[in-house]
Amino acid sequence: MLGSLLLAGSRVPLVRRTVSGVPLTRKVVDRFVAGESTRDAVEAIRRLTDAGLAVTIDHLGEETKDAHAAAQTAEAYVTLLGALRELGLGDRAEVSVKLSAVGQALGEEGDKIALENARQISEAAHDCGANVTFDMEDHTTVDSTLGILRAVREDFPSTGVALQAYLFRTEADCRDLSHEGSRVRLVKGAYAEPASVAHQNKAEVDRAYVRCLRILMAGKGYPMLGTHDDRLISITELLADRFGRSRGDYEYQMLYGIRTDKQQALVGAGHTMRIYVPYGDDWYGYFMRRLAERPANIAFFLRALGGK
Ligand code: FDA
Repeated sequence: MLGSLLLAGSRVPLVRRTVSGVPLTRKVVDRFVAGESTRDAVEAIRRLTDAGLAVTIDHLGEETKDAHAAAQTAEAYVTLLGALRELGLGDRAEVSVKLSAVGQALGEEGDKIALENARQISEAAHDCGANVTFDMEDHTTVDSTLGILRAVREDFPSTGVALQAYLFRTEADCRDLSHEGSRVRLVKGAYAEPASVAHQNKAEVDRAYVRCLRILMAGKGYPMLGTHDDRLISITELLADRFGRSRGDYEYQMLYGIRTDKQQALVGAGHTMRIYVPYGDDWYGYFMRRLAERPANIAFFLRALGGK
C-alpha cells in the first residue's frame, strides 16, 4: 500500500522537488547509486570486478522529453564505454539502457530516435566487447521496447532485454525470446501497474516468475535472473539441474547495494553474479522504486532525514 503510494507520488513534480531538495536525501541515495560522474562509475566498477562480480551499468535517467537530452544520454554511455575499453574492463561489464531515456517518450518520432541512439550505444559497446540490455519500463512501453530490440538485434544479436514477471503477457514474451542467442533478464517488475495488465498480489507475482523462469531455463537462450529472492534462487538451481544447465549457462543479477552478502555467496559458489550499477544525477525515479520495494528502506530514509 505504502509502496503503491510512493510509486504514484514519484510521478508528481512537487513530491520530486521536495524529496530531491532535502540535503540528507543524498546520503541515503548513495546506498543505491554509485555516484554522479563517469569517474564514480568506473571506481565502483573496479571495486566490484576486483571482488569477482560482473557489472551492468545504468546511466540514470528516464522519460526524457527532449531530443537533445536523449542524445546526451547516448553520448554519456559512449563515453563510459570508451573508459571501460581503455581500462580493459569490457569483458566483465555490460550496460543497461532505459529506452525512454534515449528518446522513446518523444511522441511519434520517439521510437526512431530511441532506435538511433540505441544503435550508437550498441556500436560503442561492441567496440569494447560489452553487451547491451534494455531495461523494461511501464507496460505501455513493452511493444515499443521489443520492437526496438528486434531492430537492434539485426546488427547486434547479443542485445538483451528485461521482462517483468508481473505482467500477464510475459509468459508469452518469454516463449518468444527463449531461442538460441537470446538474452533475457527476468525480473518481478517495479512499476505501479493496473490490475487489467498485471498481477497485484506478491504470491501471484512470485508464481508467475517461476512459470517464466521455467520457460527460460528450458529454452535455448541465456537466462539472467534479476532477483534478490532466496526462494527464486533455490528454484533456479533446481531447474538448472533439471534442464542440464551448468553455471556458465545462466547468471544471477542484483541491484547495487542490495543483499551484498548474498552477492558474494553466489560468487563463492561459482556463479556469475552481475551487479546493476546506476550512476548519474537523475536518480529520483530509480531511488523511489527502491524505497517502494521495501518498507525497511522507507524507515532508513526517514531516520536519515531525522539525523539518526
Ligand atoms: P522481492 O521484492 O520479493 O525481494 C526479495 C528480497 O530481496 C527482500 O526480502 C529483500 O531482502 C531484498 N530486497 C528486494 N528489494 C530490495 C530493496 N529495494 N532494498 C533492500 N532489499 C531489497 N524492474 C523493472 O520493472 N524493469 C527493469 O528493467 C528492472 N531491471 C532490474 C535489473 C536487475 C539486475 C534487478 C535485480 C532488478 C531489476 N528490476 C527491474 C527490479 C525488479 O523488478 C524488482 O522490483 C526488484 O528486483 C525486487 O524484486 P525481488 O525479485 O528482489 O523480490
